[in-house]
Amino acid sequence: MKTVLFHPEKDHTAIQEAAAIIKHGGLLGIPTETVYGLGANALDETAVIHIFQAKGRPQDNPLILHIPDASWLEKYCHHVPAAAYALAEKFWPGPLTMILPRRDIVPLRTTGGLDTVGVRCPDHPVTLDIIRAAGVPVAAPSGNLSGRPSPTTAEHMWEDMNGRINGIVDGGACTVGVESSIIDLTVTPPRLLRAGGLPLEALEEVLGEVEVDKAIREKLADGEQAKAPGMKYRHYAPKAPVTVVTGSPMRSAAYIAAQAGEGSGVICFDEFTSLYPNCIVHSLGSMNDVSEQARRVFDALRTFDSTEVRQIFAQCPDENGLGLAVSNRLKKAAGFCTVDAGRPLVIGLTGPTGAGKTSALRAIERLGGCVLDADAIYHEMLKTDLPLRTALTDAFGEVFLPDGSLDRQKLGTAVFGDAKELEKLNQIIYAHIPRELSRRMNATVAPIIGIDAINLIEGGLDKLCHCTVAVLSPAQLRLGRIMARDGISEEYARLRIAAQKGDDFYRQHCTYTLNNTCDSAAAFEEQAYVFFYGLLQEAKK
Ligand code: TXA
Ligand code: MG
Repeated sequence: MKTVLFHPEKDHTAIQEAAAIIKHGGLLGIPTETVYGLGANALDETAVIHIFQAKGRPQDNPLILHIPDASWLEKYCHHVPAAAYALAEKFWPGPLTMILPRRDIVPLRTTGGLDTVGVRCPDHPVTLDIIRAAGVPVAAPSGNLSGRPSPTTAEHMWEDMNGRINGIVDGGACTVGVESSIIDLTVTPPRLLRAGGLPLEALEEVLGEVEVDKAIREKLADGEQAKAPGMKYRHYAPKAPVTVVTGSPMRSAAYIAAQAGEGSGVICFDEFTSLYPNCIVHSLGSMNDVSEQARRVFDALRTFDSTEVRQIFAQCPDENGLGLAVSNRLKKAAGFCTVDAGRPLVIGLTGPTGAGKTSALRAIERLGGCVLDADAIYHEMLKTDLPLRTALTDAFGEVFLPDGSLDRQKLGTAVFGDAKELEKLNQIIYAHIPRELSRRMNATVAPIIGIDAINLIEGGLDKLCHCTVAVLSPAQLRLGRIMARDGISEEYARLRIAAQKGDDFYRQHCTYTLNNTCDSAAAFEEQAYVFFYGLLQEAKK
């Protein structure tokens, strides 16, 4: 079969010609924002059989339907719940597939014999035009040969499918790079069957509780059933065996440097490429840019097949946001062969002024730990961090002076005495600080990290921590310490203490409290040292 390559941006008849292939029962490679798909008329059993043949895909692995908007849902699914429309409203077109009860018009061939059907609206203008012009839902699995990494460019798809299908539409490189997230709405609570281009956290915002299918994070035991039939197959596998190394980026990088012999393949973050001079290295993008990692993960897995590497090591992001999808693709490629290089223990420290937080932080440093001061980081970000600066100007007008520094007076006046404005400022600050905190946490090999923040709890920074510790001390002792430290009057020191949250607030919200009744800073530092040492030993278990 001759495979035609269509270029819709150069050739205005391409969309009609491509749609004609679908209408006449042919096979067409289509671009989407996630990965390229191998499309055919979902209602035409013969065309659907040809998809399975061209891919070499097991017949029991169902196909999903691609539709141009949510108004088509009723045609192919029944009992469509309100949640489906809420999700469609928020995330379509986009990288989300919903599993719903199938109407009889959808052939069992298409759904691999299931009474449910997966439906999604892809976010690619060319493919949406093609589906509308064809007037039928397009069944499309990813456009790779079964078992190979999904294609994220027309060239990848050409490698696997040239000569096997009627045409491929070149719509450029995929902007998301991993397949859609699949949510099963026929069960309660809804279940995530595949982690993909739409983060779990985004789904939870709309659906509340979401159950995560076990097959996303772990290898299933023999005889255990994957809820998405496709999850049971070994996927995305390069020819050489892959070992995935989890843990903080600095540690996984060091682990791979120690283990990878000459001529090994290494998939790593940009920051570490120079650590492997005798290996074939493929970068996933920056350790701080998980969207880029998603775009590159399949390409990274694919490129090793044209080399002689006998083993591949891969650095793996953590499972937040798109990280869940990236780590799942890497782990599947590795048949879930993973090694954990470890992470630092992250402790959030908070408490009122004068209670002894500084001494506690010194104890963390003595344990080889790294202290990150949220307030200092905020002040540095004010100078250099464009997203934070932009958010502040958007909210409060031009609050930066011509030399680039913050106009403290102007910002101060805007929020002083106005609780609402102050709340707005805090929200902006605490929306941006975690990014920089994570960046610094990624860049340390320290076994323990102390995050120092007065507003640890209120600002939500406790979410970055394994546990939180409040340093507390009787008011009378704090009074004396503040007066001595800052050289202020008793009256003024009392005012300061009164302006802060009471001890109960901290006791309620923190995992631990450290009570400082010591008569010297050195004695309290010793007490804190013993406490943190204990936490560290506990975490190692
Ligand atoms: O991003 C994507 O979803 C891409 C692009 C082309 O749209 N498509 C894609 O299709 O990844 P495919 O066939 O490679 O993966 C679909 C997955 C398979 O694991 C399949 O088993 C599962 O969806 N699936 C399909 N219908 C299902 C159903 N009714 N119940 C449970 N799982 C289903
Ligand atoms: Mg696939």
